[in-house]
Amino acid sequence: MDKKRHISIIGSTGSIGTQALEVIDKLRDKFEIIALAGGNNVELLKLQAEKFKPKYIYAAKPVSVSGVKTLESLDEIAENRENDIILVACSGKIGLKPTLKAIENGIDIALANKETLVMAGDIVMKKAKECGVKIIPVDSEHCAIHQCIKDISQVDKLIITASGGPFLHKTIDEIKNATVEQTLKHPRWNMGKKITVDSATLMNKGLEIIEAHHLFGFDYDDIEVVIHPQSIVHSAIEYKDGSVIAQLGLPSMHIPIQYAITYPDRFEGIKSRSFSFSEIARLDFEKPDFEKFPTVKLAYQAGKTGGTATVCLNAANEEAVFAFLAGKIKLYQIYEITKKIYDGHEAVKNPSVDEIFEVDEAVREKTRQYINKLI
Ligand SMILES: NC(=O)c1ccc[n+]([C@@H]2O[C@H](COP(=O)([O-])OP(=O)(O)OC[C@H]3O[C@@H](n4cnc5c(N)ncnc54)[C@H](OP(=O)(O)O)[C@@H]3O)[C@@H](O)[C@H]2O)c1
Repeated sequence: MDKKRHISIIGSTGSIGTQALEVIDKLRDKFEIIALAGGNNVELLKLQAEKFKPKYIYAAKPVSVSGVKTLESLDEIAENRENDIILVACSGKIGLKPTLKAIENGIDIALANKETLVMAGDIVMKKAKECGVKIIPVDSEHCAIHQCIKDISQVDKLIITASGGPFLHKTIDEIKNATVEQTLKHPRWNMGKKITVDSATLMNKGLEIIEAHHLFGFDYDDIEVVIHPQSIVHSAIEYKDGSVIAQLGLPSMHIPIQYAITYPDRFEGIKSRSFSFSEIARLDFEKPDFEKFPTVKLAYQAGKTGGTATVCLNAANEEAVFAFLAGKIKLYQIYEITKKIYDGHEAVKNPSVDEIFEVDEAVREKTRQYINKLI
């Protein structure tokens, strides 16, 4: 980075967004912030704007900060060619449209928002290729794979690690009766609520398989999931000759966030302490139990079906997660409801962006109605 990188963050008030600002705070001479955007937490957005002095801010609610222009939409950020890179760190489907718009404007993307690829991976990756735009993954597993790959044509298999979440060694009955509080206590990562619930059901891993398929162009049969409770090996690849390259590091999202926004350069930045194998002492691996965590199988099925199958999977799961967080359903019902809705969905092949949003809305409505009948 021989000159300051101009960056905007969509979702600056969330878990990824705030950690990204911690990284940028350590690398002030490397970045100039163009825009910060959040949803409802306007108090935090204001504090961020006062500290980091972006040119623009956007929030889903009215917001104003003296000396900073308030934008009307996320599109205005995505269209602004002052940006070299945009970190898309919002949750849910709102990430898709600005990501596409930024790509059309030739702006590189650091992508945390996995829903963008789960909903429209084919469209997003094709457009990025056409526009010569880099999509650099922030998700720690995909960031790990990105770091391991030198020549993708020589790679046979992707190996995605999963911590297994808080219920890894619990019985099915314990999982069925898990409370919201137990579910939100992730043993390794401190993340937003939606992704934390997905980590407990392992749907997060399912979504990551779909994300990996699009980012790296691998068949689903060549993407393997392995449970690794310590979250030190963030993922690996196997080359044709049997050589396996893995990326390791302490479990901190600062590292993949920094990698994505400074790529291809590396800086000390926010590194908290040096890595020590002897401190880690042991690394365990085991096969995922698809009986206890059937969400992964469902995600493979949706990914292989393609088209709107993954849109349906994502939307039904998200609505079910919201219902769980609201205390309306039990944890295991998230899978049962998602499967029920998924089984009733007829996938549309090669959908347009409008069709994707139509299916998303229809599936959400159907899922909400189904949940309301259950409770
Ligand atoms: N957290 C992690 O460690 C992690 C790891 C890998 C991938 N991811 C992915 O990264 C994404 C973000 O996750 P997270 O854990 O950071 O979620 P989060 O903590 O819930 O943050 C979500 C962010 O999106 C913002 N937002 C919501 N509605 C918005 C709107 N209409 N316009 C603009 N911004 C809006 C929120 O703003 P307000 O808070 O102001 O409402 C917040 O800044 C997800 O797709 C997740 O799967 C997260």
